[in-house]
Amino acid sequence: MSVMAASNTVKYGIVGVGMMGREHLINLYHLRSEGVAVVAIADPHLPSQKLALDLAHSFNWPIKVFSGHRELLDSLLCDVVVVSTPNMTHYQILMDIINHRKPHHVLVEKPLCTTVAHCKEVVNAARKRQDMLVQVGLEYRYMPPVAKLIEIVKGGSLGQVKMVAIREHRFPFLVKVNNWNRFNINSGGTLVEKCCHFFDLMRLFAGANPVRVMASGAIDVNHKDEIYNGKVPDIIDNAYVIVEFDNGSRGMLDLCMFAEGTKNEQEISVVGEIGKGEAFVPESIVRFGTRVDGRNGVQTLKAENDQIKYDGLHHGSSYLEHLHFLSAIRAKAKAPAVDLHDGLVSVAIGVAAQLSIEKGRFVTIEEVMN
Ligand SMILES: NC(=O)c1ccc[n+]([C@@H]2O[C@H](COP(=O)([O-])OP(=O)(O)OC[C@H]3O[C@@H](n4cnc5c(N)ncnc54)[C@H](O)[C@@H]3O)[C@@H](O)[C@H]2O)c1
Repeated sequence: MSVMAASNTVKYGIVGVGMMGREHLINLYHLRSEGVAVVAIADPHLPSQKLALDLAHSFNWPIKVFSGHRELLDSLLCDVVVVSTPNMTHYQILMDIINHRKPHHVLVEKPLCTTVAHCKEVVNAARKRQDMLVQVGLEYRYMPPVAKLIEIVKGGSLGQVKMVAIREHRFPFLVKVNNWNRFNINSGGTLVEKCCHFFDLMRLFAGANPVRVMASGAIDVNHKDEIYNGKVPDIIDNAYVIVEFDNGSRGMLDLCMFAEGTKNEQEISVVGEIGKGEAFVPESIVRFGTRVDGRNGVQTLKAENDQIKYDGLHHGSSYLEHLHFLSAIRAKAKAPAVDLHDGLVSVAIGVAAQLSIEKGRFVTIEEVMN
């Protein structure tokens, strides 16, 4: 039997139901007791539509299927729209949602857009819509060990943060629908596409704004034997990036995407004047200690969050992201937890890093912002 959405149910539409869109669908299903339902999807790719429809049917959710976001918006069926389409499509889809006569709250996947100019246009357009909340999917903030480390840092036990080092060593980019993620023009480049997560965390830990960026990176191992419409992918697969902040603290990213033989995909280290904290994903461990107590005083915690009903692909962070966004919507909050400005700055750092590799010099944030 189909379950129709009750009148107080928050109704979601998902634009783009590839890997991440279906992940949102499953997460929202696990939030059904919170009064949410997915009522519509939009995707031009029939195999993605079918996979999403099969999932929705297995959840007894009678969803409407559209081939494009405009039809979904015009149906007026949704209160919230999740945008999980390829990066280069975010800009137009967001502008159409923001300019639509019906207000829709939006959760847009990272990166906000592939260029700073497009991010800024979206920020400016959204400013005029006080009736909408737009959250950017920088969900690493919600991963239990990362969230615990944020709590430790913000609680002041490490003192003033001076250094933030983030290492991501992982597997290569997965295959995507129509291979959109193989080219910088579509994804914004590796340092925008995926590393916006880490630049967002650096900024959060540093509690400051980025000033300038220096990066070195290349495509050295992956995708070199792939050809799409006669073109070899141009996305880098490893890099070191240094980010300087306006309070004198600095961050460093160490990215390697041919490092399957690693225990933790992400290792984050934050060092302040008083102490040091570390988070390990997926081990879900946090360590912290102080200079005074030394090595013997280092504590190790298992980071868990019993609110998570579905771990999914990202260790429960998508679930918590939705839970928090839903409360912001219900509370009629003025701003979501991760807003468009956070989305813009995380992209700007990535763009500066990509440009730094190209130019072989420091690139200031001012340079990419203007
Ligand atoms: N939060 C995370 O850590 C995380 C992880 C993976 C992907 N993502 C992001 O999610 C987004 C989608 O990535 P994915 O891995 O699901 O890619 P995907 O290729 O698996 O799916 C994208 C889907 O969007 C559809 N699509 C393309 N253009 C569209 C349009 N104009 N309107 C509606 N649908 C359209 C495609 O047909 C496809 O089904 C990207 O922005 C990506 O960066 C985020």
